[in-house]
Amino acid sequence: MKGLRKLAIAGATMCIGMGMSLAAQAEMIIGFSQIGSESGWRTSETASIKAEAEKRGIDLKFSDAQQKQENQIKAVRSFIAQGVDGILLAPVVETGWDQVLKEAKDAGIPVVLIDRGVDADPSLYLTKVASDFVEEGALAGAWLAAKTSGNCDVVELQGTVGSSAAIDRKEGFGNVISNFPNMKILRSQSGDFTRSGGKEVMESFLKAENGGKNICALYAHNDDMALGAVQAIKEAGLEPGKDILIVSIDGVPDIFKAMADGETNASIELNPHLGAPAFDAIKASMDGKEVPKWIKANGPLYLPDTAAEEYKKRSGK
Ligand code: AHR
Repeated sequence: MKGLRKLAIAGATMCIGMGMSLAAQAEMIIGFSQIGSESGWRTSETASIKAEAEKRGIDLKFSDAQQKQENQIKAVRSFIAQGVDGILLAPVVETGWDQVLKEAKDAGIPVVLIDRGVDADPSLYLTKVASDFVEEGALAGAWLAAKTSGNCDVVELQGTVGSSAAIDRKEGFGNVISNFPNMKILRSQSGDFTRSGGKEVMESFLKAENGGKNICALYAHNDDMALGAVQAIKEAGLEPGKDILIVSIDGVPDIFKAMADGETNASIELNPHLGAPAFDAIKASMDGKEVPKWIKANGPLYLPDTAAEEYKKRSGK
């Protein structure tokens, strides 16, 4: 494997010697197994990582798994066979990674978990570059408890079943509201982190809960599902953001528009710019330096008061 890599470097050096562009020389070859494009946040994250790779002259081998773990496992094996210098893996679900991570480790290729975590022996990967999803859930719960003085019946739109983002965001929120006897989760179901999933599941919540009249608030594990739910709430003849409070996570441009329009009430930002710390970690490990096991990337909670200004900044509109 490493022989192949040396050959590539020798080839690139020859090209430079022959007067070819410096851009043709890749500083590192990195494989990136991305989950898919289920949400606005995911699309921004992909674009940001690709742009960072280009800026650094990294040859990024990108693979879109279309939400399937089996595609991610195939992609990682293909990166190993190509002898890449490092792998970025955004794991769609938490479990089932031990074998393929061991294969990468045995090949001497560092794996950086990007955005989501895995339930596996930490010695099998270099580091995780991600926010603390439990903390995000807790922040959402604390905001809602303060906003409603601890009196609120909530419906919850969960993310992809089995993903660390859904498991931990549920846990963090649940931990906080369990301290308030008059707060409870009426219904909780996955909308798979998509706008259409959020709309569909919210429609069923509204039907089951007296046309929505029993619901004080919606906690959505991402903005896209919240935006789908906004549509469902309007179609049911209620006012999102007023009749039903909405708190979600990501901080995508569209949620700032919705907040500025009074249709949602709070969003916790998830930083999509994870490429720089991930590439730095691989470079550091190639240089024999210590890398922490978790590089955190948490963001703040935004409210409607700054939403119009944030929307302008983020969308350029
Ligand atoms: O893993 C992070 C989550 O995945 C984001 O909140 C969501 O938008 C994405 O699909």
